[in-house]
Amino acid sequence: MKRLPVGILGSGKGSNCRVILERIRSGDLAADARVIISDVLDAPILDIAREFSVANAYLPPGRFRTRLEPEIEEALVKMLRQAGVHLVVLAGFMRVLHAPMLNAFPRRIINIHPALLPKFPGLEAWKQALAAGEIATGCTVHFVDEKIDHGQIIAQREVPILPHDTPESLHARIQGAEHQLYPAAIAEFCEKYAGPGL
Ligand code: GRF
Repeated sequence: MKRLPVGILGSGKGSNCRVILERIRSGDLAADARVIISDVLDAPILDIAREFSVANAYLPPGRFRTRLEPEIEEALVKMLRQAGVHLVVLAGFMRVLHAPMLNAFPRRIINIHPALLPKFPGLEAWKQALAAGEIATGCTVHFVDEKIDHGQIIAQREVPILPHDTPESLHARIQGAEHQLYPAAIAEFCEKYAGPGL
C-alpha cells in the first residue's frame, strides 16, 4: 500500500496529533508520520511523538512571537523535505507560516480551526462563538495561506452550543468533533496519493 508521508507541526497538547497517530497505527489511515516538529521545547506533542516512536524535533523559533524567522522557516522546509513529507499537518501550531513554507508546499499544508470559518478566525474561537450568542459552531479543516485561519475550506463539522455551555465544555465538544474530522480529511489526501491525484 502506498502511504502518504505526513509531517505534523504543533505547539501544544497534541490531542489531534494523537488521534492521527492512533488511526495510522490501527491501519485506518494510509499515512506515514515521518516527523513531528514543535516550536515549544516541552510541548506534550513531542512526548506523544516519542510514545509512538515517530521522529521528532524541537525547532527553536527565534525572536518573533507569532511567526518564525525566515532562516528558521527555511530550516523547517529542509527538515520536512529531508523526511520526505508530502503533506504538512498543522495541529495546534501557533505560528503563521510565510513564503518559504507556502512556496515549498503549495496546497500541501492543512490546518484545523475550532470554528466554522470564515466565522471566528483567531485565538479561542469557541469563546468568540459563545460571546456572539451563536447556537452552533464547529471546526474547519482548511488549506493554509498567508492569512490567519483563512485558506480554502476542505471540510467542516457543526457542533451545537448548549444553553449551559461554559467555554470549557464547548471547547471539549469541539475537540471531540476535530478528532473525527481531521483524520477523515487526511484520509481523503491518502486516497488521492494512492491514486494518480497527488
Ligand atoms: C485545536 O483545537 C485546533 O483547532 C487549534 O489548535 C488546537 C490544537 O489542539 N488549531 P491539540 O494540541 O491538537 O489538542
